[in-house]
Amino acid sequence: MPLTIGVPREVFAGEKRVATVPDVVEKLIKLGFKVAVESGAGDAANFSDDVYRAAGAEIIEGAARLWATSDIVFKVRGPSSEEVGLLRDGGTLISFIWPAQNPELLQKLAAKNATVLAIDSLPRTLSRAQKMDALTSQAGVAGYRAVIEAANAFGRFFNGQITAAGKVPPAKVFIAGAGVAGLSAIGTAANLGAIVRANDTRAEVADQVVSLGGEFVKVDYEEEGSGGGGYAKVMSEGFQQAQRDMYAKQAKEVDIIITTALIPGKPAPKLITAEMVRSMKPGSVIVDMAAEQGGNCELTEPGQAVVKHGVTIIGYTDLVSRLARQSSTLYSTNLFRLTEELCKTKDGIIDVNMDDDAIRGLTVTKDGNVTWPPPAPKLPAAPPVAAKPAATVSAKKGHGHGGSSEPMSGQKMAIMFGVAAVLFWLIGAYAPVKFLGHFTVFVLACFVGYMVVWNVKPALHTPLMSVTNAISSIIAIGALVQIAPSGDLSPVWIRSLAIGGIVLATINMFGGFAVTQRMLAMFRK
Ligand code: NAI
Repeated sequence: MPLTIGVPREVFAGEKRVATVPDVVEKLIKLGFKVAVESGAGDAANFSDDVYRAAGAEIIEGAARLWATSDIVFKVRGPSSEEVGLLRDGGTLISFIWPAQNPELLQKLAAKNATVLAIDSLPRTLSRAQKMDALTSQAGVAGYRAVIEAANAFGRFFNGQITAAGKVPPAKVFIAGAGVAGLSAIGTAANLGAIVRANDTRAEVADQVVSLGGEFVKVDYEEEGSGGGGYAKVMSEGFQQAQRDMYAKQAKEVDIIITTALIPGKPAPKLITAEMVRSMKPGSVIVDMAAEQGGNCELTEPGQAVVKHGVTIIGYTDLVSRLARQSSTLYSTNLFRLTEELCKTKDGIIDVNMDDDAIRGLTVTKDGNVTWPPPAPKLPAAPPVAAKPAATVSAKKGHGHGGSSEPMSGQKMAIMFGVAAVLFWLIGAYAPVKFLGHFTVFVLACFVGYMVVWNVKPALHTPLMSVTNAISSIIAIGALVQIAPSGDLSPVWIRSLAIGGIVLATINMFGGFAVTQRMLAMFRK
C-alpha cells in the first residue's frame, strides 16, 4: 500500500518555511505516494491550502491528526518535544536534526522506533548527493538575503553612478568566509555593482571568489586552512593575529561587511572586534550571518539589528525564512530528490538502503537504533595532493592514445615514438608531394593546438573554444579570393557560394569574439 507523506506546519517561532511546496506535492504523487498537508502549513511562505489541494494533497486540520495520518513526515526544523510525542511508533521523519548538537533528541526518536534522516548530515562531498544538499540550497538563499538586508540598511547605491546631480562612488563590500553563503553574497553584491572583496582561511576558494566578481584578499601568513570535508579548522594564534591586522585595515576602507565564517562543532570565530566597528565609516553596515553560532562580530546581538558607533549591525538568525517562498521551494526539491533515491521502484514505498553512502550518512536513527555517527566515508573528502602530477601525465597522454588512465612507462613511450618515426619516414618517402605539403601543415597545426590548449585551466576552456572558433573564420580569406574580380571572372555559382561563405564566416568571427569577451568579463570583474 502506498505510504502517506505528511507535511506539518512548522512550530518554531518565526519559521516561515514549509517542507513541501505544491509543485513537489504533484511530483511525490507521481512517485506513488499520498500527500497530507496540515491546514495553514504553507501560509507564511505564500502557499495556500487551496493550491495544495489543487496539487492533489489532502488538507488536514490540526497537527495531531496530521502526524497520526503520516507514515513519513517531512519537516524543516527538527521536531519539538511535543512533535516527537506525535510521531507514530516506527514512523519515518526527514528534517534538519543537527545530531551532534542534539544527542537527547536522537535518543527520544530512537525510543519511538523511528527511522530519521537528518538532511544536514548528508555527505556533501559525494557529487551524487548535491541535488539533495539542503545546507547548500539554504545557505545560498541566506547569502543573497544578507546582501539585500545590507542594501536596505545602507544609505547609498551599491553601484557607482555619474549623474547630473553628482558622482556616486560604488559601495565597497567585504565578505568574511567564502563558503556557500559567502559565495552567494559575493555574486549578489557584485551583480548590484559593488566592489567586492573576500577572505577565507581555505585558500582553494580564491578562484571561486574571483569567478563571481570578487577580489580575494590574502592574509599575510602561510597556513593551510582546510580542516577536511571542505570545511575550515581553527587557525593558529599567529594566523589569527595576521588576519585581525588585515580585517582592521579592510574595516576602515569598506562600507559593508558580511561575515559568514563557521567552523563545524566550534563557536564562530570572532573576526570583527569592537575596535574595528568603531573604525568604520558612519552609516556602514555589518551583517553577521554567524549570529546563531555566537557571531563573527563582538558587538552582534543575535536576532536583532542594532546601531553601535554609527554602524548598523544586523544579527538576524532567520535570513532564510525572510525569503520563505524561495527557500521552501529549493528545500522541498532537495527532499523530493532524496525521496526519489529512497523510492527507486516508484510505487510509494521507501527503502532506506544502508549500503548506499548518501543514505547511510543521512540516517541518524533506524528502527529504534541510533545510527549516528556514520562510519567514515569510503571516498576521501578532498582529492589527495599527489593527484596533480598524475593528471598532467594523463592529459598529455590523452592525445593519441585514449587507452587506460595509468601513467605510461618509459619503455612504452619509446616504442610509441619509434612507431611514429617509422610512419613519418614511410609517408615522407612514398606519399605524393602535394599531400606532403598539406600533411606538414596538419602536423604543425596539431602541435601548435596542443601546446596552446593542454595547460589551460578548465574554467577557461569555453572562452578558449569561442575565440578559436572566431579565429577559424580565417576561411573568409578563401571566400574573398573567390569573389574578387581576377583575370577571368569566377562563374556566378562560385561567387554566390563565396558570398554565402563570407556571411557565415563573419557571423562566426564576430559571434566568437563577442562570446569570448562576455565570458572573460565574468572573470575580470
Ligand atoms: P561553513 O558554513 O562551515 O563555513 C563558511 C566559510 O567560513 C567556509 O568557507 C570557511 O572556510 C570559512 N571560515 C571559517 N573560519 C574562518 C575564518 N577564521 N576566517 C575566514 N573564513 C573562515 O561552510 P559551507 O558554506 O557549509 O561550505 C564549506 C565548504 O564545503 C565550501 O567550500 C563548499 O563549497 C563545500 N561544499 C562542497 C560540496 C561538494 O563537494 N559537493 C557541497 C557543498 C559544500
